[in-house]
Amino acid sequence: MQISPSILSADFADLAAELDRISNADWAHVDVMDAHFVPNLTLGLPVVESLLRVSPVPLDCHLMIDDPDRWAPAYAEAGAQSVTFHIEAARDPVRLARELRAHGARAAMALKPATPFAPYEQLLPELDMVLVMTVEPGFGGQAFMADQLPKVQQVREAVRRSGGEVWVQVDGGVSARTIEQCAEAGADVFVAGSAVYGADDAAAAIDELRALADA
Ligand code: DX5
Ligand code: ZN
Repeated sequence: MQISPSILSADFADLAAELDRISNADWAHVDVMDAHFVPNLTLGLPVVESLLRVSPVPLDCHLMIDDPDRWAPAYAEAGAQSVTFHIEAARDPVRLARELRAHGARAAMALKPATPFAPYEQLLPELDMVLVMTVEPGFGGQAFMADQLPKVQQVREAVRRSGGEVWVQVDGGVSARTIEQCAEAGADVFVAGSAVYGADDAAAAIDELRALADA
């Protein structure tokens, strides 16, 4: 069970220190938004390059952008340890996933709440992780969508059938109140933004989430 705090809820003026607050996490989740694929705008490759130089944990880059076929490989090339593209925006996901892996990154596919998993099940051998969004992408601090749990189960069952080592990530509204249902449904990587950065002691919040997921 792995915890990936989202720096979307961190202080953007002090990101190096904000990463140090979560040094007991498994990953740092970096939400890249382009104001086209989602209505919000965050940060891009130059900031990720700088974060890679100072982060005590590997970076889990979640690209909520148009045309990931064009833009995502540069994140892997820069050294991001995991790169997630949205399947709704990808033109040639097989080629893209192979390119990410060729640069040494884990390749992941994300699904918005309205996007079904079944049409993309055959992509599993090309992937290291599937991200099931449990909010509409774009903003932190939204309410968890429990109606996405059947999709988490579906992905987990498909991974089991495939016999592969694909991780199942949930992102959006994950907290001490919702993480157990996510783990029960089959998730093993948990993104949490406000639940970690909103806590006085971020490291303690991470330990608490991990303990709940492990239980
Ligand atoms: C939403 C982002 C999430 C966000 C989660 O589009 O992908 O990673 O930071 O924030 P919380 O955990 O506050 O829902
Ligand atoms: Zn995210």
